[in-house]
Amino acid sequence: MTLQERCPVLQFRDLGDERGKLVVIEGAQAIPFDIKRVFYIYDSDASVVRGQHANRESEFVLINVAGRSKVRITDGKEEFIVELNKPMMGVYIPKMIWKDMYDFSSDSVLLVLASTHYDGSEYIRDYNDYLRIMDAEA
Ligand code: TYD
Repeated sequence: MTLQERCPVLQFRDLGDERGKLVVIEGAQAIPFDIKRVFYIYDSDASVVRGQHANRESEFVLINVAGRSKVRITDGKEEFIVELNKPMMGVYIPKMIWKDMYDFSSDSVLLVLASTHYDGSEYIRDYNDYLRIMDAEA
């Protein structure tokens, strides 16, 4: 499976009507895990790079509910970039995938759905460590 196949861009259904848009994301239905945690990133701008980590245990879905940002996704071998620019789209990031979020528009609100409660010890924050671990586990 290619990296892009492992990290699909998801299109959510719009249940909107003349009153406005409505997007519903149900855990284990519209996304491949039950949601244990939600966080969102805003007030970032085009000069910052966030993320810069891989997670041993957590899966994520990233959605720009407002504005736009880019996500660079890599497994140390393949790499691709997704621009998140619609509230109805998201990208799925499985375990042990490295991601950087950057190029935030000033109105960006990046919503993150996670499969776990927060545990800082499951984060790999050094890219060289990540590459070593990926090589060792290959
Ligand atoms: P960090 O992982 O650097 O954020 P990002 O992935 O957006 O770059 O997290 C910033 C701080 O917030 C860090 O001290 C850890 C803390 N944090 C939590 O306590 N719980 C969480 O769910 C997250 C994502 C971060």
